[in-house]
Amino acid sequence: MTRLTSCPDAETVAQRAAAHIARQLAEVRELRGVAHLALSGGTTPGRTYELLAAAPQDLAGTEVWFADERCVGPQDEQSNYRLADQALLTPAKVPAELVHRMEGELGPEEGARRYALELCERVPSEHAESSGPPALDVVVLGIGPDGHVASLFPGANTLDAGDDAVCLGVRDSPKPPPQRITLSLGVLRAARGCLLLATGAGKADAVAAMLAQPSRHVPASLLRRERLTVIVDDAAAPGGPAR
Ligand code: 6PG
Repeated sequence: MTRLTSCPDAETVAQRAAAHIARQLAEVRELRGVAHLALSGGTTPGRTYELLAAAPQDLAGTEVWFADERCVGPQDEQSNYRLADQALLTPAKVPAELVHRMEGELGPEEGARRYALELCERVPSEHAESSGPPALDVVVLGIGPDGHVASLFPGANTLDAGDDAVCLGVRDSPKPPPQRITLSLGVLRAARGCLLLATGAGKADAVAAMLAQPSRHVPASLLRRERLTVIVDDAAAPGGPAR
């Protein structure tokens, strides 16, 4: 079952989200010594990243990955890395060798190929004896009004990439810019936990659709529900604020 928390406002969403991430990372570090956290871009998680940066000790022993990236350089205003760097990585002084950015400037296919290699090299699958996909510990996700997560868009062929796919190039994203790199649905489903954040009335329909029947038209609905935590503000809660 998906855990859904509704908060009065976006600031409370960010506080809950930062506390959730810190708690999960601490548990993982206790168990395995190192934790693997993947970040998303977009506007929603920025405040969560700032709050995390205010307690840098919570990130100790954490390797930082990305759920998706736009095919631009790391200093471009559209870069997801740049957002994470400004809000979290630089203020929290996360050592550069623990940060694994998707190299958007290499283009969708080459960027995805290199990232898949790096991810598979450093992040073990859930069952050490199996050759399953790398199992990230916490993946932070936003959701688009169309129900996309990372850069997996409704009805896109990336959703059919198969179990071996780790990281995929995208050339026709309906959300600009069109060229992107994204973790596969298989890797999102293999993660030990996904944390999805949504704020604002514009996300309410997508959140409701995500919690309904799984559908290729709503990629977020294809996440593994028993491993999914959703934190929304009241405006984005399914059915709207008045319930
Ligand atoms: C991206 C994202 C994308 C994002 C959602 C929500 O690079 O665009 O990673 O999946 O999380 O589109 O975006 P907002 O938070 O801006 O609404």
